Amino acid sequence: MPEGARVLAPSAVKAAGQMWTDAKQLQDFPVPQEMTSDDLLHTKAEFVDASKNAMEAEFDGVELHGANGYLLEQFLSPVSNIRKDVYGGSVENRCRFVLEVITAVAESIGKGKTGIRLSPYGVASDMPHYPEIDATYKYLSERINNLGIAYIHLVDHSAMGAPVVPIEIKKLIRNNFRNTIILSGGYDKDKAEDAIQRGLCDLVAFGRPFINNPDLVERFRNNWPLSQDLKMDLFYTADEKGYTDYPFYLV
Ligand SMILES: Cc1cc2nc3c(=O)[nH]c(=O)nc-3n(C[C@H](O)[C@H](O)[C@H](O)COP(=O)(O)O)c2cc1C
Repeated sequence: MPEGARVLAPSAVKAAGQMWTDAKQLQDFPVPQEMTSDDLLHTKAEFVDASKNAMEAEFDGVELHGANGYLLEQFLSPVSNIRKDVYGGSVENRCRFVLEVITAVAESIGKGKTGIRLSPYGVASDMPHYPEIDATYKYLSERINNLGIAYIHLVDHSAMGAPVVPIEIKKLIRNNFRNTIILSGGYDKDKAEDAIQRGLCDLVAFGRPFINNPDLVERFRNNWPLSQDLKMDLFYTADEKGYTDYPFYLV
C-alpha cells in the first residue's frame, strides 16, 4: 500500500487476522476509516474508470468483485457495515452501494459486459455468517436480475476448508437470475458437467487446476490426465514460479 494511503471500508470495523503483503509479508489488518459520501462517489467513479480501461485494453468484460471480504461484500454484511446512513442497516440499504456500482459500470461499458462475483456463506477475510444472509442474497439477486447484467459468479471455498455453502442459496440465486450463473470451487470435469446437467449453473470456473494445467481446456477436451503436482507453497509469492512455469501435456 502506498505510504500515506487511506484505508477505507463501509465502517471503521477492524477485520480479525492478518493479510499477506509482498513487501512486509503478513501484516495485521488495519482499522479502516468509514467511507464518507465523497468516498462513495469517488470509489464508484474508480470502478467505472477501471472498467472503461479494461474495455480500452480489449478485455471481453469486467467481473466486479463482490466476494471474499472485498470492499463490495463488506457493504453487504451487517458485521462489517454498521453505517447509520442509507448504505447501512436494512437489507435494502446494505445492498445499495453494490447495486449502484453495478448500475454505474453497466451503464458505462454495457450490461452484457458486466458480471459480479459473490460469496454467500463465505467467510474469507473475517466475514462471519449473520442471520439475514439468505434475505440479503435473495433481495440482491432479484435486483441484479433487474439490472440485466451478463452473469453472477458464485464462489464456494468449502473444498479449501471453508464452511459449506448451502445448496439452497445457490438454487435461490439460480432461480432469481435469468442470465448466466457461474459456479466455482473444487470442481473437476465430471462434477462440472453434473452441476450444469442438474441446472445449477450454466458455466463452471476453475482456479487451481488452471495453475498446474496451463492447457486445462485441451486436457478436458482430449481426456488427457491432469497434473496433480500443485506447489501450494508457491501460492501468493511474487514471481512467476508456481504460476506460469508448469508444463503443457504435449511438449
Ligand atoms: C493462488 C490463488 C490466489 C487466489 N486469489 C484470489 C483472489 O485474489 N481473489 C479471489 O476472490 N479469489 C482468489 N482465489 C480463489 C479462486 O478464485 C477460486 O475461487 C478458488 O481457487 C476455488 O476454485 P478451485 O477449487 O477451482 O481452485 C485464489 C486462489 C488461488 C489458488
